[in-house]
Amino acid sequence: MSIPEAAGQEAAKIKPATGKLGIMIPGMGAVATTLIAGVEAVRRGLAKPIGSTTQMGTIRLGKRTEGRTPLIKDFVPLAQLDDLVFTGWDIFGGNLYDAASHAQVLDRDQLAQIKPFLESIEPLPGVFNQHYVKRLNGTSVKSGKNKCDLANQIRNDIAEFKTKTDRQVMIWCGSTEIFLEQTAVHQTLEAFEKGLVEDDPNISPSMLYAWAALKEGIPFANGAPNLTVDIPALNELSRKMNAPICGKDFKTGQTFIKTVLAPAFKTRMLGVAGWYSTNILGNRDGEVLDDPESFKTKEESKLGVLDIILQPELYPELYKDLYHKVRINYYPPRGDNKEGWDNIDIFGWLGYPMQLKVDFLCRDSILAAPLALDLCLFLDLAARTPSLRGIGIQEWLSFYFKAPDSAPGVYPEHDLFIQSIKLKNTLRHIMGEDLITHLGLDYYGE
Ligand SMILES: NC(=O)c1ccc[n+]([C@@H]2O[C@H](COP(=O)([O-])OP(=O)(O)OC[C@H]3O[C@@H](n4cnc5c(N)ncnc54)[C@H](O)[C@@H]3O)[C@@H](O)[C@H]2O)c1
Repeated sequence: MSIPEAAGQEAAKIKPATGKLGIMIPGMGAVATTLIAGVEAVRRGLAKPIGSTTQMGTIRLGKRTEGRTPLIKDFVPLAQLDDLVFTGWDIFGGNLYDAASHAQVLDRDQLAQIKPFLESIEPLPGVFNQHYVKRLNGTSVKSGKNKCDLANQIRNDIAEFKTKTDRQVMIWCGSTEIFLEQTAVHQTLEAFEKGLVEDDPNISPSMLYAWAALKEGIPFANGAPNLTVDIPALNELSRKMNAPICGKDFKTGQTFIKTVLAPAFKTRMLGVAGWYSTNILGNRDGEVLDDPESFKTKEESKLGVLDIILQPELYPELYKDLYHKVRINYYPPRGDNKEGWDNIDIFGWLGYPMQLKVDFLCRDSILAAPLALDLCLFLDLAARTPSLRGIGIQEWLSFYFKAPDSAPGVYPEHDLFIQSIKLKNTLRHIMGEDLITHLGLDYYGE
């Protein structure tokens, strides 16, 4: 069988992306409104989807001499932007025009162009408990007799949305919850569902949304660093319901750069003595992260990457004594325009020290929105792909996360370029194309 024939057969197994894709978002603040307003602006030809791999990325197929490099969205069957429908929940009332104006990410003129569209979307009342996000006090909140009742109310909202759309995905863009560690209630689906009825304090609101989505067979992604779907109980539910899940905490600013620089030092066998990262941030996310318990969740997510990339156990002379510090400071004047500084102390030949300073003046939600879009489109693709839908964790989506999820016993990949290769090879694999190994000897053979 020729390669195009094999490719055709593989691709034919994937269900087409026809009809409306419903995107359900718990937490409709800065990231969610920037995503939704951005999609509408792109649909109307008012702006370009910059930063989105699904919309602007290409993929090389076959040998370098073949000249086959389609756009990813022309290669795999993804939902079209015109077919996306949005809904979600928040603990503050009002419509998305109000929420986007409050977030102050997009400028007034840009929002004015799509005002009626944004006004037409009103978040549903959220499931919230201040124990898990200390700095917020919601006004549009569901009440119920226990966590099971609340989770079932979310399922009812989902069921209603299902009548208006053909397929759905859910992506948490809500605030960062307090740091939770895995306990017995997270270990099996049975224990978790018992915990819902018994109001177990180790079950957070974000877990209720995740459980409700998976129970409805809907893929779930987590844009925040909370312990949510990354517990054995929900992994079990994901596989049982053929509802894909993936990592957590969008890899947008400082960690994005960190996972580019750290592999560069390692590949050149340069040592790293210290890495000090600090941020100032003035949006609501910054305010929530000002609470030590929410910051702890973020800190764990941000700290994890260097150890795994640099492998100090393999290279003790280079990385064993690395001092890694991460700070986030709430500084209202900057709003969503975060400034992230890194001071990196490295050392080279014969141990001579050097320094590298990075000052990233970024825009948080401008970096996060395209990642959220890609995740929704790729999770929907995974749910339509026979070889992906039943496996639970979609490790190939690690590219998007500070804390990627991976199979038990397998360390996650943090290097951005390994993650990119993994993502593109997965797309080639599901479409029956040859994987690209970069060996290249065949160009020089007989
Ligand atoms: N923007 C980035 O670059 C970036 C990167 C990585 C992770 N994140 C994470 O993404 C999340 C969203 O960021 P943001 O800047 O949009 O924050 P935001 O504060 O503007 O929006 C979060 C929204 O979630 C709502 N919310 C909180 N708990 C809720 C609940 N239980 N149910 C429903 N709604 C709830 C809040 O009311 C708020 O409107 C945060 O957790 C943040 O840490 C953002």
